Amino acid sequence: MDIILPNSIERILLDEATIQQRVQQMADIISTDYAGLRNEEFLLVGVLKGSFIFMADLARRLTVPHRVDFIALSSYEDSAAATGAVRMIMDTRADVARRHVLIVEDIVDTGYTLQYLYRIFGARQPASLRTAVLLSKPDRREVEVTVDYLGFQIPDVWVVGYGLDYADRFRTLPYIAMLKPSVYEK
Ligand code: PRP
Repeated sequence: MDIILPNSIERILLDEATIQQRVQQMADIISTDYAGLRNEEFLLVGVLKGSFIFMADLARRLTVPHRVDFIALSSYEDSAAATGAVRMIMDTRADVARRHVLIVEDIVDTGYTLQYLYRIFGARQPASLRTAVLLSKPDRREVEVTVDYLGFQIPDVWVVGYGLDYADRFRTLPYIAMLKPSVYEK
């Protein structure tokens, strides 16, 4: 059966089966790497809003005990703030000290968000700090950041679906798709 695409969608970049297969592979690797930890020792931290679908699928495929927590960030949009400046608007409920922390992100673009998260969480004495990121746009990188578990590298195109949005739309599409340039060039 053909998938009927919303009008604003140019084409599907990563279909549902491809994403699910990759998320399963990532979950298998992460489950191996974090084997032997107790529930309270392994904390997944999702970065809202974009990571909520990836987090749900990844976490449900892990075979090791873990806790789930979330943070919310916002970019400074006023011109007085430095480029790429990020601030936290909701912190984790759990204390990250002495826990193995895995930050779960939908996408790394310029790298400023992950750089901020490494700095903030790194200062809180976690037992370890790693990142699981579904998508990376290497062409957009402005600061070098380490991604420990990466799903896919993609070109510099505007993508939506599977948590990613354009003006808070399209987040719940089950696939990742390119937006028609006419949508964001208006
Ligand atoms: C997106 C994404 C990352 C960040 C990556 O969030 O979820 O957090 O941008 O970009 P960077 O590498 O250039 O810092 P966004 O600000 O779109 O918020 P959202 O997750 O709520 O959609």
